[in-house]
Amino acid sequence: MASYGKILSLLRASSDEYISGQDISTLLHVSRAAVWKQIKVLRDLGFEIESKHSQGYRLLSSPDVLLAAEIENNLDCRLIGQSVVSFPVTDSTNVQARRLAEDGALEGTVVVADQQSSGRGRLGRRWESPFGVNLYCSVILRPEIPVRQAPQLTFLSAVAVAETLNEVCHLSAEVKWPNDVLVDSAKISGLLNEMSAETEQIHFVILGVGINLNMSAEQFPEMLNYPGTSSLLETGEPVDRLLFLRTFLRRLDAYYSEFLQQGFAPIRRRWESLCKIMNRQVVVDQGSGLLRGTVVGLDPEGALRLQLEDGEIRKILAGDVRPVEK
Ligand code: BTN
Repeated sequence: MASYGKILSLLRASSDEYISGQDISTLLHVSRAAVWKQIKVLRDLGFEIESKHSQGYRLLSSPDVLLAAEIENNLDCRLIGQSVVSFPVTDSTNVQARRLAEDGALEGTVVVADQQSSGRGRLGRRWESPFGVNLYCSVILRPEIPVRQAPQLTFLSAVAVAETLNEVCHLSAEVKWPNDVLVDSAKISGLLNEMSAETEQIHFVILGVGINLNMSAEQFPEMLNYPGTSSLLETGEPVDRLLFLRTFLRRLDAYYSEFLQQGFAPIRRRWESLCKIMNRQVVVDQGSGLLRGTVVGLDPEGALRLQLEDGEIRKILAGDVRPVEK
C-alpha cells in the first residue's frame, strides 16, 4: 500500500511539473490503482491535485495542516517519530499522548495537533492553541533512568526548541530556568513534561511542547501573566510548520540518543550556553522571600546553582528568576 505521505513528497518534489501515475507506481513499488486511491485520500484532506490525461498529476495547493504521513516520511530518526499521530483538533496533545502511552504506545511516538481545545500550561494554566499557526506536540519517552533524573529531559527539550528556533527562524532564542524559551525576554515556547512512574521505575514521560510560530498579536489572549511572542512577530516572516517540526524532531532524537549514551553533561553544557543569565546577578523570588546572587550553572538534578554574596552556592529548586538591571 502506498502511503499518501510518500506520494505527497513526490508531488511536492516535482513542483510545477506533472508526474505520471506510472512513475509514482514504479518509484514507490505499488500498483497504479493504489496510487489513484491515495490521490483520492489526499484530495479528501484538502489537497488540490490536478490530473491530466497522458501527463499525470500536479499539486496545485495544500491545506496548512500537519499530517502524520508527511511528518514521518523519511524523517530518519532513531527513536523519535517512529510513529506519529496527528489531529486537526484535539483537547490536548499531552492528554492524547498519555492515553496512547497507557495503551502501550512505542517510545518515540509523537502526537501533534493543528489546534487544541484545552491546551494545558503549567500550574493549571491554559495554553492558547489557535488553529493552524503554532506547534502543539507531545512526545512519549520510556527512558530507563532513575525517577529523580526525569527533569533532565525538560532541559533537553528546551535546548532542542531553542536551537531549532535559532536555526530555522534565525532568532536568538534563550532558555529560561526552569522550562521556558524566550526571545527578547518574551515567551515563545512553553514545555509541560508529565511522568508516570512507580517508586524507582519510570513507565513513561510525556514531553509536551508548545511553540508560537505564526501567531499574530491579536491571537494572544489579553491577559497573559508574562509577555508572549511568536516567530512571526519577531521576524515578520511566516514559518513552514512542517519543516520546523521535522527539524525539531531530528534534533530531539539526536539529543535523546546522546543523553541515553552519555548522560546529562552534554545537554547541561548546551543549556548553559543558551542561558543568557549565566554569570549574571539575579534576584530569585521563592515566594517566601527574595534571594540575590550570581547564576553559576545547572546541577545534575536540574536545580539552578546560585552563588550568594558570601560565596555559598545555593541550589534553587523553584522560584522566579529575574536578572538585576544594571
Ligand atoms: C507552559 O505553561 O509554559 C507550558 C505550556 C505547554 C503547552 C504544550 S502545547 C502541547 C502540549 N499539550 C498541552 O496541552 N500542553 C503542551
